[in-house]
Formats: sequence, C-alpha cells, structure tokens
Amino acid sequence: MNKFLFTIVNQGLEKHLKTEVESYFPNWKFAYSRPGFLTFKGGDGDTISHLWMSFRTGEVVRKLTLEELKDFMTSENIFWRREEDFIAPWPAEYELKKIVKNKTYFIVMMTDPDQFWLGKFKSSNNETGHLYGAKAELPESSPSRAYLKIAEASALFELSFKDKTVVEFGSAPGGAVHYLLNDGANVIGVDPGEMDADIFKNKNYKHIKRPIEKCTRGDFPEKVDWVLSDINLPPSVVIREIRQVFEKHPPEVGFIITLKMTKSDYVGRLENFELQLKKLGFPKTNIRYFPSHKQEVMLMAQRG
Ligand SMILES: C[S@@+](CC[C@H](N)C(=O)[O-])C[C@H]1O[C@@H](n2cnc3c(N)ncnc32)[C@H](O)[C@@H]1O
Repeated sequence: MNKFLFTIVNQGLEKHLKTEVESYFPNWKFAYSRPGFLTFKGGDGDTISHLWMSFRTGEVVRKLTLEELKDFMTSENIFWRREEDFIAPWPAEYELKKIVKNKTYFIVMMTDPDQFWLGKFKSSNNETGHLYGAKAELPESSPSRAYLKIAEASALFELSFKDKTVVEFGSAPGGAVHYLLNDGANVIGVDPGEMDADIFKNKNYKHIKRPIEKCTRGDFPEKVDWVLSDINLPPSVVIREIRQVFEKHPPEVGFIITLKMTKSDYVGRLENFELQLKKLGFPKTNIRYFPSHKQEVMLMAQRG
C-alpha cells in the first residue's frame, strides 16, 4: 500500500531534499510542504530510509485535531515544532528527549499554530542524541557560528580533541578553532582570510595564511590526528585538494569535512565524496546534517 512519508529539514534546504528524493527514491511523489516540513507519497514496499538532507524521515499516520492531541501528550512520544515561536501545547523538555536505538516512536509535529500531524519512525541502530542529533549553544566568546558545527558533531559522536593535533582548512575567523582549543587540542589553521585576534593568544594555535592549494604535507607535523575543512568551495574541489595534501600520509584518526551544498546536484554526488575518503583508508563514514548547518552537510570519515 502507498504510504505518505514526512521529512523534517532545515528551512531553506527543501529544494535539496527534493533533489535527494528524486535521485534516490524516484517513486516517492512530492505531496505537501511547509518551510522545513515536506510530505511525499511513497512507493510500494519502500523501506523508509534516512535522507541526508533531513533530520528525520518517517511515515505519516494522520493529522490530529486538538482534541485527539491530548491522547498523545506523553513523554514517551517525540515532539517537534516547525517554528521556534509557535507556542506548543507540550512542555519544552519533551522536545529534547533522548532517542534510543532501534525503537519505533510516535512523533507529534506542529506544522502551524493550529495544525498537528502524527508520524511514526524507527530509530536507527547507531542512533545517538535527540530528534536533531545534537543542538549546541553558541558562546559569546566565539568568533563565528561555525563553532556550532564542530560542537554538535562532537556532542553527537562523543569526540574529544584533548591533546590531539588538528588541522583545519578554512579556519577564519575561528569559531571551530575556538571550540577545539577549549577542548584541549593543538590546532593549525589554514586560511588566507583573517583570524580573530584573540585566537592567537592561545599558544596551542598556529596559522598558515595561505589557500589549501599552496600547502603540502610538509607544512604540517608528522603526526596529525584530525583533518577538518570548512572551506567555502565546491565539494569536489575541497575533496580533491585535501587528498592532494593528505593522500600519502593521512591523519591518524580521521576527517571532518563540511561540504557546501550550494547546488542541488552536489547532493547526488555525496556517495562519491564518501567513497573517496573510504579509499584513503577511512571506511567508517558518516554524512550528517546538523541544526547549525545552512546549505551544507558534514562528511566524517574515520579508520575502521
Ligand atoms: C565558512 S568560512 C570558515 C569558518 C571557520 N571554519 C570558523 O570556524 O570560523 C570559510 C572559509 O574558507 C576560506 N577559504 C576559501 N577558499 C579557501 C582555500 N582555497 N583555502 C583555504 N581556505 C579557504 C575562506 O577564507 C573562509 O574564511
């Protein structure tokens, strides 16, 4: 039987999500959308997979009236509001519920002040965090919002950078570097742009004021643990340049690369970018989408 499916996405990325569906699930037919919320009519027998450009994908059960909503107001269920300024009829803590692995949940979605949908989804076998994975707070001291991307990835995958040597390409003005230094890392930032002056007060920071294209492996210490990139260039260029520097002598732990999805057709090439890092000896890969992401996703690759 044809099912209706729902997806939750960062606002502004609905077009990319549609491209992903067209590329990988051509038998899903677009049905309805509000900013950040889309439904599709799914093909027969489709397993509901996770979409890269979406936080959550599941089956629409039905729309709920306010009266029916009461029956689902329990902390067992998951709750989502499309806009932060919608006044939800449930307690705020219900929205930060930790999701456990391999479990089927009901989700109540408030798509407009008077519109509620009931959905159902099964959590994955590597599920951690809550509905969005992880959501971090931006400290006032951070030079940029890019702090959030690495903070959310670290929270979700329980990463610690203490005493690690980290190279970040595209480091200016230094939001991610600020996070990494606070976490106890030694950081080398590479960017032709200006870093925030406060970053240089930390003796564990070194800067290379050049584009990645002008770097060689010899510019970095023998032992590098992590290679990060937040360069705002097309994903194929970023992957090519990182490979060019680190192919022969890769990092000890892995890569965390922000891929800018400025064009919808990059979505269909994500698997290829992932494969290129696998081939460098990093088979444990993850493509994740975080609340702080705008037109981008994170590609993480680690040794097996
Ligand atoms: C999104 S910003 C990075 C934000 C930064 N990660 C932070 O935490 O504040 C993108 C950066 O990529 C840098 N960039 C662009 N082309 C580059 C290249 N070829 N090599 C290195 N950095 C580059 C830009 O100068 C810019 O500072």
